[in-house]
Amino acid sequence: MTGDRIKIEELLNYPGIGRVTLHKLSKIGIEYIHELTLFNPEEIMELASIDIERACQIIRLARKVAGKKAKVLNALEYERVMNSREQFTTGVKSIDKLVKGGIAVWDIYEFAGEYGSGKTQLCHQLAVTVQLSKEKGGLAGKAVYIDTEGTFSPSRVRDIASGFKLNEEEVLRNILVYRPINVAELEELVVEQLRSIFDLNTKLVIIDSIIALYRAEFKGREWLARRQQRINYLIDWLKRYANTYDIAVVYTNQVLSQPVPWGIAYKIPAGGNIVAHAATHRFLLRRLQDKWVIECIDSPRIARGSSASFRITERGLEDIK
Ligand SMILES: Nc1ncnc2c1ncn2[C@@H]1O[C@H](COP(=O)(O)OP(=O)(O)O)[C@@H](O)[C@H]1O
Ligand SMILES: [Mg+2]
Repeated sequence: MTGDRIKIEELLNYPGIGRVTLHKLSKIGIEYIHELTLFNPEEIMELASIDIERACQIIRLARKVAGKKAKVLNALEYERVMNSREQFTTGVKSIDKLVKGGIAVWDIYEFAGEYGSGKTQLCHQLAVTVQLSKEKGGLAGKAVYIDTEGTFSPSRVRDIASGFKLNEEEVLRNILVYRPINVAELEELVVEQLRSIFDLNTKLVIIDSIIALYRAEFKGREWLARRQQRINYLIDWLKRYANTYDIAVVYTNQVLSQPVPWGIAYKIPAGGNIVAHAATHRFLLRRLQDKWVIECIDSPRIARGSSASFRITERGLEDIK
């Protein structure tokens, strides 16, 4: 659907939708039909003060005009659709193999790990490899990089881009960087500003990390339910973009020590059930003495416990020779 720019005025050609309704939609910042298909009728009703029947009618129409009408497929057709979706290389053969060919649009990937386990390096690398030409395994697409920990580094992007023989400045120009400082800013960014990215050939949205701002802001048990609710809301929007705009979503997560009665603590990703169920594929990254390891901990397609090794050099993540 990328590149389709049908204005909501198109809806005037259909019976029952007039200028007053359109005005209400544009007042809440909706300009294009595709943006409209991200919402459900209850949200449109509330945001734009439109009655529910009309809101349902608008969403139905928008989906029709955008070619998003739900289709029933047999499993063979379904397989064909899933196999033909866009994927891009991580730039590391062993990791590509682990993730079954590359990072795929419509899927949500979680990379959890301790400090220094390579999460941020991997994010930088993906922001570059998504830009590779299709012949080189990329999608010739742009990346959105949401940096909640202040660790995004343009100079690392340059290093990695030059390793892939890409024009460094062009690569930097194709990464939209955001640095939200609190949850309210992060939500506004994701829910409102990202709505317009379908227009920019964006193929990847990165959040490094998904949890940092929430942990800083919602401290203590009494805020836990509220925190989980807010994370859920954010992730729900990320999923809408993934599906509606044909984008891959990648986020990093911190790990917590899980104390066990017999003493040996082990590490689990933070964020509880909400984050655990949000991702399509979950991976744990670890730094060993002389290499890094990425292991699948949950996925509908990748065996749990399967892993890949890599190293991190000047040029980014690489296979171990
Ligand atoms: N220019 C570089 N050359 C070699 N290794 C690097 C370079 N930059 C970062 N690294 C490696 O990456 C590690 C940091 O990984 P990072 O992705 O920041 O971890 P985190 O999981 O905390 O985000 C460093 O400890 C270092 O070993
Ligand atoms: Mg990091």
